[in-house]
Amino acid sequence: MFLDTANLDEIRSASKSGVFRGITTNPTILNREKVNRDERVGEILALSFPILYVQVVGDTAQERLEDAEHLLSIGNPSIGIKIPLDQIGLQTVHEFKRRHPAVPVLGTAIYSATQGILGVLAGCDTLAPYVNRMLVSGVDAYAEIEAMRQFIDERDASTQIIAASFKQPEHVVKALSAGAHTCTLPYDIFVKMVDLPQAIDAIRVFNTHGKETF
Ligand code: G3P
Repeated sequence: MFLDTANLDEIRSASKSGVFRGITTNPTILNREKVNRDERVGEILALSFPILYVQVVGDTAQERLEDAEHLLSIGNPSIGIKIPLDQIGLQTVHEFKRRHPAVPVLGTAIYSATQGILGVLAGCDTLAPYVNRMLVSGVDAYAEIEAMRQFIDERDASTQIIAASFKQPEHVVKALSAGAHTCTLPYDIFVKMVDLPQAIDAIRVFNTHGKETF
């Protein structure tokens, strides 16, 4: 799993679980922290996750490529580049992968399999379909994930689906069942996936009874 946050306390706490292989951020998540992007990127990188995805910003492919080059200039091999997938995004992915084939690219802001399929063809290593945002706009997010996964598998493409945008723990399970290779979780969803009230209550009772047997 990935953790979808730029909050250092959340990253430190969740990292102890052994569940997370990387961090994803976006401009909104970073803005929420009221910090300078590059400073926070440096602070997250210091926590030594294998990969930290940072999203490029810009209205043109040129601007997004410049932002991507700036992020690479930080000089840390754990940085992956997140690129939102509109037409300019496809151009950005294509040119960025021509320049830097080994740097992982995550195509993001995906609201349809159509975007995801084009993202695979343009060269994305990973794709982030927005599950909750699709569901609230009446799109069957799971059918879109299934279609993307079928396209990937039938062509033996190496692209992986990192499902994103979660507001309910059950949606994570459904996204994985639909074919997502993994998911990126907001911290509160991670907590809700494991600290179910019934489980917490059962563990409290076990602890009480267990201590009576010492
Ligand atoms: O990683 C993408 C994700 O952060 C979008 O989530 O909750 O803004 O729909 P949300």
